[in-house]
Amino acid sequence: MASEPTRNLALELVRVTEAAALSAGRFMGRGDKIAADRAAVDAMRVVLNSIMMNAVIVIGEGEKDQAPMLFNGEHVGTGVGPEMDIAVDPIDGTRPLANGTWNAIATVALAPRGTMFDPGPFLYMNKIAVGPETKGVVNIEAPVEHNLQAIARASGKTVEDLTIVILDRPRHDGLIAEVRRVGARIRLIPDGDVAGALMTSWPDSGIDALLGIGGTPEGVLAACALRAMGGEIQGKLYARNEAELRRGREMGYDFEKVLTMDDLVSSEDVFLAATGITDGEFLHGVKYFGSGARTDSLVVRGQTGTVRQIIATHRWDKLSQFSAINYQGSR
Ligand code: FBP
Repeated sequence: MASEPTRNLALELVRVTEAAALSAGRFMGRGDKIAADRAAVDAMRVVLNSIMMNAVIVIGEGEKDQAPMLFNGEHVGTGVGPEMDIAVDPIDGTRPLANGTWNAIATVALAPRGTMFDPGPFLYMNKIAVGPETKGVVNIEAPVEHNLQAIARASGKTVEDLTIVILDRPRHDGLIAEVRRVGARIRLIPDGDVAGALMTSWPDSGIDALLGIGGTPEGVLAACALRAMGGEIQGKLYARNEAELRRGREMGYDFEKVLTMDDLVSSEDVFLAATGITDGEFLHGVKYFGSGARTDSLVVRGQTGTVRQIIATHRWDKLSQFSAINYQGSR
């Protein structure tokens, strides 16, 4: 039986994503995805290991991009305290960060041990995410037109009023054509579908749904966030080819199964933190000002449904006295 966390770990988690963002933000626009990832992973590990918890990484980093890793199965935390599952995405949007464009975030989620979906080596998932107003009205197996009409009805809008976030990928050409045919507006994003899913539940974002195929880690992280924010995500594992499908079946994965919120994270007692690395729709990126930096973060707690936005000012003179992380770059 997993022990229940009793304190608000989200407030400790935000230190983790702040550290990752402060470190990775140095690489904005410098064209080096691997170095950015390494900085984020290293900073994340240092702070994670200072948190009183016994967490096992269920969703790690790096396999898709051959990036530096926080390994699946690795234990993080002090080893004392609540037993947790952890999902990490030190940079969601390594490409936008390396190119100096929008919406790169650092994000981490925690849930009691054994409650997070483990996608194994399967990297992609078809997803539909919606906000609190339209929770319960969509079905990932239904035609796009049906879902868009259901979202419009439930939110008191017309289909033409809706804005749908879709990752800009050739695999979505058919989906994009269908959304256009039905008449909704589209916000194509180059990367970052955790942020895309969160926007559906962010007041005033103007985003009504996220549709399409993205990463499985990002799907689990989004499920943790949306549980707390009152939205919904459904997923279906997506095999890129026959060999992947066969391998999945041999390993006991069901690519036909609809993964509901409960399948993706079965506990209400979830925590998620995200910090902007580059400027985005709902989080500002890291601003450096010589003696320190400012970060903009979101922290959510499933049990209470509290969503906090935390703007923090970090001072290098103080931090450099005790932190193992070199936030000041090469100086
Ligand atoms: P990384 O920054 O971790 O590479 O992820 C960026 C991302 O856009 C995710 O937000 C999304 O889920 C996934 O990549 C989509 O994968 P792909 O770029 O292979 O289509």
